[in-house]
Amino acid sequence: MKNTVATILAQKKSGEKITMLTAYDYTSARIEDECGVNSILVGDSLGMVMLGYENTLPVTMEEMIHHTRAVTRGVQNALVVADMPFMSYQTSVYDAVLNAGRLVKEGGASAVKLEGGAEVCEQIRAITDSSIPVVAHLGLTPQSVNAFGGMKVQGKNYERAVQLLDDALKIQQAGAFAVVLECVPSKLAKLITEELAIPTIGIGAGECCDGQVLVMQDMLNLTSGHTPKFAKKFADAGQAFRDGFRAYIEQVQSGQFPSEEYSYKIDDEVIERIIKERSEQS
Ligand code: KIV
Repeated sequence: MKNTVATILAQKKSGEKITMLTAYDYTSARIEDECGVNSILVGDSLGMVMLGYENTLPVTMEEMIHHTRAVTRGVQNALVVADMPFMSYQTSVYDAVLNAGRLVKEGGASAVKLEGGAEVCEQIRAITDSSIPVVAHLGLTPQSVNAFGGMKVQGKNYERAVQLLDDALKIQQAGAFAVVLECVPSKLAKLITEELAIPTIGIGAGECCDGQVLVMQDMLNLTSGHTPKFAKKFADAGQAFRDGFRAYIEQVQSGQFPSEEYSYKIDDEVIERIIKERSEQS
């Protein structure tokens, strides 16, 4: 079944959990889509997991469009949401609409995601007024890493918790059709989920959100170094890759690969004729 903004909103009403995963390329997007994920997020986390940047800040519109295009080519049914990179919407409402439009027109995305609360409501309203659905992103918003002074759980004290709830209501009022809650205490995420008419999609925000999102590389154990507490490993693709790469190297070096099974045949007569002709010429 094709997933749309309407089907995602209906899932909040029916209580059917929304599943979202990141993808950044054609092959992964095609597999996630075949498995039936509701939504695929082309996250600006691609800066780290695909491009090797230290954080999301260097990611450009061109990089987002390039990866979004690859993802949309692999997807039949999932709703593709593309992240608006750092400084593609903070600068002005005009930039926000223009760049959201590029992700849809050039990337093929069906919706865009941007980070922030009250301070980006004008942008959310202008983008939705341009008929582009918007997912908001609250809590730990990685584009604010320098302002936060690191990647920390958000909304833990009374003032910050009230501010998060207030921001959630404001982005809903501005027209966002869903909100990602990242690194928010479970009980606060539950409260926000109950207050909002639009779905909450949690990442490190507990089980009461209307849906969940994870970074594909984290949940398949394809990352190296520290991964956050919430990033459960659902499979060990990292080990599967290593096993495959090592077996290939060994078999090429030992001559075991490629065997006849993986090679093409030609009539012996053809080869013999060529050899004969060449020896006659010399
Ligand atoms: O960029 C991203 O992958 C995200 C998710 C972590 C929600 O924003």
